Amino acid sequence: MNILVTGGAGYIGSHTIIELINAGHSVCVLDNLCNSSRESLQRVEQIAGQPVPFHRVDIRDRAGLEAVCSEQQFDACIHFAGLKAVGESVSLPWEYYENNINGTLILVDVLRKHGCKNIIFSSSATVYGDPSIIPITEACPKGTCTNPYGWTKWMIEQILTDLHTADNSWNIVLLRYFNPIGAHPSGLIGENPNGIPNNLMPYITQVAVGKLEKLHVFGNDYDTPDGTGVRDYIHVVDLARGHVAALKAIDQNCGVEIYNLGTGKGYSVLDMIRAFEEVNGVKIPYVIEGRRPGDIGTCYSNPGKAAEALGWKAEYGIKEMVRDAWNWQKKNPNGYE
Ligand code: NAD
Ligand code: UD1
Repeated sequence: MNILVTGGAGYIGSHTIIELINAGHSVCVLDNLCNSSRESLQRVEQIAGQPVPFHRVDIRDRAGLEAVCSEQQFDACIHFAGLKAVGESVSLPWEYYENNINGTLILVDVLRKHGCKNIIFSSSATVYGDPSIIPITEACPKGTCTNPYGWTKWMIEQILTDLHTADNSWNIVLLRYFNPIGAHPSGLIGENPNGIPNNLMPYITQVAVGKLEKLHVFGNDYDTPDGTGVRDYIHVVDLARGHVAALKAIDQNCGVEIYNLGTGKGYSVLDMIRAFEEVNGVKIPYVIEGRRPGDIGTCYSNPGKAAEALGWKAEYGIKEMVRDAWNWQKKNPNGYE
């Protein structure tokens, strides 16, 4: 298929492009580079051994999108483009709603005008709120989000679903990611957070490389085996392959389908520290702090639906995740700079 990849220069997008190319698809990348750089795509080209067509376009720029969609016919769009920093979304709600929701509205309008009504959307387990079913299946009702970022995912899912209700020639796949970590095994591409990382794994790797002094563990009084938060960490390469698998649903005229992309296993913060130390032989100093506002105790998936319907299953375990996260950080202490 010929796939338009929005946000393709970012962390998950860059890994997905490689898997798409490996599976024989053609890609065209669109990104405004507000949270990424041209360098990540140059590294993708190095890994893939072929050029990757790129347009520096904002998804809110209708004319820019029109120009790209007039040049060629796309079979599907994988839509990663969006702002994703939870804390920042609390201080900049307008910017998050405007970029993520308005951007998606313009994107789908241009796509449909050009006859492409197939979209795979990057959603998040955050839409489950404090989940009522553990492990979380897709039947678990959506919950209450604790920040504007989460609400943009919640609302875009609803917008895309309503689009299909009104016009059932749309095929829409909502992929709810659990916690993507790790990097391509080559160490050429990986996560490149701006400033001090909010998420656990990039924080750990920056402690390991000496950029940060110690890890702050947010809470050890949750109802979990060791009291620290439990999450479903998934290797970014497995997650990327989940998008290739999701094209199968599009191909079969799926209508609207939701899939969890996780491993089905939960690890605590202390499990992650231990795994990182054991696999990589690097000590991670840490202190226990109070809970982070908005956090929940336990969140992990039942990934059975994607296995059954798409034949997709995460293959990498926690050892490969912490190994590859460290390999990337070690080789690129300052990210893509
Ligand atoms: P990322 O920031 O690395 O990638 C997003 C890309 O979108 C960036 O390259 C950025 O420059 C681009 N972008 C943002 N706004 C744009 C706009 N208006 N027009 C064009 N490009 C724009 O983030 P990521 O971790 O690769 O996440 C990809 C998607 O997956 C996002 O939608 C994110 O919300 C979602 N997601 C991520 C996680 C995670 O833990 N990383 C979890 C769940 C969902
Ligand atoms: C966060 C976001 C979620 C987003 C997801 C993936 C919040 C409330 N949720 O989820 O919307 O989809 O990232 O990007 O921010 N932890 C520490 N110390 C740290 C960082 C994290 O102890 O410095 C703990 C957290 O309390 C949590 C676990 O590590 O228990 C994972 O945290 P994180 O990587 O931020 O992901 P989530 O909170 O699951």
